[in-house]
Amino acid sequence: MSVYKVTSSDINYPDSITQRLQVQHLLEPTGTVSITTGSDVIKGLTQTPKTLPFKYLYDDRGSELFEQICELPEYYPTRTETKILQEYASEIVRTTGASELVELGSGSSTKTRILLDTYQELGYPMSYLPIDVSGGMLEASAIQLLQDYSCLKVHGLVGIYEQALSHLQPTQLPTRTIAFVGSSLGNMSSQECERLFCQITGALQVGEYFLLGVDLQKPKEILDGAYDDTQGVTAAFNLNMLEHLNRRFEGNFDTTQFSHWAFYNETEQQVEMHLKSAIAQTVQLQSLSLKVNFTPGETIRTEISRKFDLCGIQQDLQAHQLIPQQVWTDENQWFALILSRLCS
Ligand code: AVI
Repeated sequence: MSVYKVTSSDINYPDSITQRLQVQHLLEPTGTVSITTGSDVIKGLTQTPKTLPFKYLYDDRGSELFEQICELPEYYPTRTETKILQEYASEIVRTTGASELVELGSGSSTKTRILLDTYQELGYPMSYLPIDVSGGMLEASAIQLLQDYSCLKVHGLVGIYEQALSHLQPTQLPTRTIAFVGSSLGNMSSQECERLFCQITGALQVGEYFLLGVDLQKPKEILDGAYDDTQGVTAAFNLNMLEHLNRRFEGNFDTTQFSHWAFYNETEQQVEMHLKSAIAQTVQLQSLSLKVNFTPGETIRTEISRKFDLCGIQQDLQAHQLIPQQVWTDENQWFALILSRLCS
């Protein structure tokens, strides 16, 4: 059984804000969120080829670097999706009608504002349910939103998607929209994606909505550049994972002896990010009692970023009773927003 803890920040905010905010921490029985156990690190570093879960890219520094990536000239996804949202938010909101907005991986909730602005313009009630593993980030962005939208109510859930989706209470509004934007689906394997769709189907009532943002297939040169920018921000983001592991698990990775390697794997239709060992070396992660040997040139795959085919992803959604109602893309067809509805 999960333990619930309702928190509010240490800072005192006026009642007009705190009365509209509820944050629930969904904890594991041990009181820790699973990111801290390290068993996934042991598994990934002791297998061939070596891998590490992409979640370790996101400590505070990693989240900062990701924000910088989103601004890079080569990194088109954020800009493109934002433009689609800006252009079609009113169509999206008019299609769903008054709806509770649930957001998976809400982060700084930047794109959410485009939808909230539209609810506000149309005079709809505003109820936002962000879900994120980072409680600090969730609470800070919730406070900011509550300051900016005086009619908004926020009920945040801190935890992993699976936990949070299984804890959704029936909405008070006529319908609910679960949004999963930013093409974070691309960072999941097809099995993980399959599981998530099942959880989403389980969390929605018949007739409710799922808004999905996906990055589409495109020429290799564009993708290679987007994940290996000239300023080296993506390289720093990737290498920061080793610093994060050093801190978290008393490790001694020497980041100068690894390099960033990213490319579009056309066969697998995914960008792959790796860290390549420059030399033969042994790395220790003391708190995991782990010693790992590397040969020169050996890599650790740190992330996949799958690029979708628009027909294929719609078929996957349909296979989970999530029937696409509308699809919006940009003029190059580089990115798509798909609004699906759960059928019986
Ligand atoms: C968060 N995610 C959708 C990004 C992506 O494009 O796959 C993460 C990223 N990795 C390198 N650059 C951006």
